[in-house]
Amino acid sequence: MTHTKQQQIQWVLASDIDNTLTGDSQALLRLGRQLAELRAQGRLALFLTTGRTLQETLTGFEGENIPQADAIITQVGTEIYLPPFSAGMQPLQEWADRLHRQYSRQQAVSFLSNIDGAVLQADRYNTSLKASFYLDQAPNPDRAAELVQQRVAAAGDSYQVVWSSGKHLDILPAAAGKANAVRFLIHHLQLAPQQVIAAGDSGNDRSMLVGLDYGIVVGNAQPELKEMQADPPAQLYFAQQPFAAGVAEGLRQLGVL
Ligand code: GLC
Ligand code: MG
Repeated sequence: MTHTKQQQIQWVLASDIDNTLTGDSQALLRLGRQLAELRAQGRLALFLTTGRTLQETLTGFEGENIPQADAIITQVGTEIYLPPFSAGMQPLQEWADRLHRQYSRQQAVSFLSNIDGAVLQADRYNTSLKASFYLDQAPNPDRAAELVQQRVAAAGDSYQVVWSSGKHLDILPAAAGKANAVRFLIHHLQLAPQQVIAAGDSGNDRSMLVGLDYGIVVGNAQPELKEMQADPPAQLYFAQQPFAAGVAEGLRQLGVL
């Protein structure tokens, strides 16, 4: 983004990748072309906000055509990367320093002690700022997640629990997460978008869907997001269509496309 372009930025789209952009490759190709055009005109900045690692975001998985982005937020909002992107690059130090002040990985992991069936995720998803587990083998995953929530709440306000898809549980610094990372970045890049639009499908997207100006919940979203439809927050649009077609539907609804 050049300086002049920053002046005209109307929208920031902060989009999750898995099962939000991905899932229907034809729809993603179409959306990717539309987003590229808006970015070329300097009217939109795209932030990818994902639970993936940087490497998985840059190379994508087989056959994916993830759109080019202006910033990449990985590991559920604990790492931020700015262009030029390259494998092995370091995340934004200022964000890392801020999060490290309130996070002990050892304490984060301790919240899961004696939780029956909890399994640590692969090393690449466990960092000095993120402790991630699978809970789907627990006798009652939702109840186990609730118990962890209670332990974390009782320990003060330094940590947060992110519970997604009945399966993934992350313990993050309270100041991290996708929404906080997006807000930090907008400030850091001195962007003044008229609207910030989040798009997502699961629990780790909730903070940005309810905390930013607008949110698009794709049609294939997980129950933990669909349940909000009973009493929908005004800024949320629940798309009929799944995956990238749902994101496009929401963007049309908001007048972006
Ligand atoms: C992604 C991450 C995983 C995390 C999950 C939910 O799948 O790779 O570590 O638990 O998102 O946030
Ligand atoms: Mg997702």
